[in-house]
Amino acid sequence: MVNIRQAVPEDLLAIQACNLACLPENYQMKYYFYHILSWPQLMFVAEDGKGRVVGYVLSKMEEESSAVHGHITSLAVLRPYRKMGLAKRLMQCAHAAMKETFEAEYASLHVRKSNEAAKHLYIKTLGYEIHDIEAKYYADAEDAYDMRCYIKKEDQKTKESNEDQSSNQSQNH
Ligand SMILES: CC(C)(COP(=O)(O)OP(=O)(O)OC[C@H]1O[C@@H](n2cnc3c(N)ncnc32)[C@H](O)[C@@H]1OP(=O)(O)O)[C@@H](O)C(=O)NCCC(=O)NCCS
Repeated sequence: MVNIRQAVPEDLLAIQACNLACLPENYQMKYYFYHILSWPQLMFVAEDGKGRVVGYVLSKMEEESSAVHGHITSLAVLRPYRKMGLAKRLMQCAHAAMKETFEAEYASLHVRKSNEAAKHLYIKTLGYEIHDIEAKYYADAEDAYDMRCYIKKEDQKTKESNEDQSSNQSQNH
């Protein structure tokens, strides 16, 4: 059983270890502290039954922008725990907190053009759209897709689908 919960400062070493195991984009410990001290509501971990951190999402609010929006800084799930829906649940927690706590209109992120697993998650599962391409964004010169997901639109879709279901149910009674 893997549980998703808000991260606490005691998780940061395990989050950094998970990041090092999964991604070439790595950060100094002070960057993790900067995130958790600035936006504690926006960092989540996936924790297994023995209390081990097996995935995380690190996100923040963009402050130098006219539209209020969140940004996913980093997301990873350890290999043995992949394809179990954990990244989807971590991302949904981050989106909900961005909207509820900061009234974010949308979430943004960067993803490598070649990262098929992440592109499936973002585009097909979560409804992100490509906003721009940033040439040679990564240290090895790979291009990035700059993606956005309109969180309010996501809510609207859920609301409409709930309304459809309840109107179908009342027609059936
Ligand atoms: C990308 C990553 C976070 C996905 O984590 P995960 O927990 O396996 O993802 P989920 O189980 O929530 O899967 C979500 C969707 O993506 C799909 N998916 C997952 N891995 C996939 C793969 N290798 N190829 C194609 N689709 C994949 C799942 O089938 C699921 O699709 P569905 O909603 O249509 O059923 C994980 O592969 C990872 O940590 N990769 C290394 C780090 C990384 O690339 N981070 C993202 C940087 S932008």
